[in-house]
Amino acid sequence: MPPPKEGSHYDLPIALGLMAAIGAVPGDALDEFVVLGELSLDGTIAPVAGALPAAIGANALGKGLICPHESGPEAAWAGEAVDILAPRSLIAIANHFRGTQVLSRPEARVQSLASGLPDMADIKGQETARRALEVAAAGSHNLLMVGPPGSGKSMLAQRLPSILPTLSTRELLEVSMVASLAGELAGGKLSDRRPFRAPHHSASMAAMIGGGMRVRPGEVSLAHNGVLFLDEFPEFTPQALDSLRQPLETGECVIARANHRVSYPARIQLVAAMNPCRCGMAGEPGHRCARGPRCQSDYQARISGPLLDRIDIRVDVPAVSASDLIRPAKSEPSAAIAARVAAARAMQAERYERLAAGPALTNAHCATALIEEVAGPDRAGLVLLRDASKKFGFSARAYHRVLRVARTLADLDGAEKVGRLHLAEAISYRMPGERLLQAA
Ligand SMILES: Nc1ncnc2c1ncn2[C@@H]1O[C@H](COP(=O)(O)OP(=O)(O)OP(=O)(O)O)[C@@H](O)[C@H]1O
Ligand SMILES: [Mg+2]
Repeated sequence: MPPPKEGSHYDLPIALGLMAAIGAVPGDALDEFVVLGELSLDGTIAPVAGALPAAIGANALGKGLICPHESGPEAAWAGEAVDILAPRSLIAIANHFRGTQVLSRPEARVQSLASGLPDMADIKGQETARRALEVAAAGSHNLLMVGPPGSGKSMLAQRLPSILPTLSTRELLEVSMVASLAGELAGGKLSDRRPFRAPHHSASMAAMIGGGMRVRPGEVSLAHNGVLFLDEFPEFTPQALDSLRQPLETGECVIARANHRVSYPARIQLVAAMNPCRCGMAGEPGHRCARGPRCQSDYQARISGPLLDRIDIRVDVPAVSASDLIRPAKSEPSAAIAARVAAARAMQAERYERLAAGPALTNAHCATALIEEVAGPDRAGLVLLRDASKKFGFSARAYHRVLRVARTLADLDGAEKVGRLHLAEAISYRMPGERLLQAA
């Protein structure tokens, strides 16, 4: 059974059908088009969500698309081969078919938002966290930052988009298809920046993974090919957090309904920030938590073990020292970091394409069997990895995730083989989380 109709996409097709029946437009001309659009009472055509996927679908059927004027620039992304008509009103489309006022093809537009992003140069000190952010960006690894209030965790996360590479055309289309379905493409302009979604911690499970009456894509899908940033991580509901486990593993989000299933892409990089305990100061030198160790363990226990296991890089972000604040050394700007990230991504893309594993794949998202093959460490590295796995009781997933991060570190170094130092750094990023798990 097909899913129930929703929205007002069929207004325009019904109206054009009637117009064809009374001879106001030639019926055979309409045969060449897929039609969607909402009709206002005065005959103007109002925009609808989903014009881009509709245009791609129409192209697959060998047809063109008639869609609302505002949705035209978005639909035009489906390619030059698709004939797109984007009239403002019923009269305009009737005139077009009569040849009295020919509609021109809408233009595909890209919005470049590269300038105006907050810059990494604003961050004082925090060398470890800056490095972790760079590594996370280079391999699209999941990242957790833990630290006291005001140490710059939210600031760091908001600067991640400025060091990520821009979207490839293919990725841009994928991102826009989801945004289009959610009706979030303002003015039909697509942007080549990676999505950065930062839902509030009161977000429900449906808001997170999608759902509702219209089975809208959720935040995880809107963050596809980009970043999902969860600030105040433990404050999210356990249901919302655990609903992320499946998309984080498979890269897609499946929403099952009584009579149909919808699946949206959700290949994301998860970035989370949290305080170590409710009062926020646990572990800070010279500070004693009023509620004792319970304060920390209760707070951290809100993050389930399986979710934490999926986070490759965990980093402590301590309070900025007074000397860093008052007389800071000059921090590196985003552009310099972005160049290194881009080089590391290029190495990954080249490698995975050579191995026919798929385009634009990153170390975080390539298949597990493949990572064993491409991140096989040298002898000294192997010994280190074996000892660490034993000592810290890594899960199989943790073991593979350490390998993934080590591969990214080697890529940042431009090294063919993963060495002992790469592994040591990758294992060190795993440690704060292992401590969290023990505390929970
Ligand atoms: N490393 C830093 N360099 C420069 N300014 C900083 C730094 N860390 C914090 N600040 C200043 O403190 C403000 C708060 O930082 P931010 O919101 O990132 O803290 P946070 O770690 O997310 O804290 P919370 O745990 O309370 O959310 C920033 O707007 C900035 O003015
Ligand atoms: Mg914050």
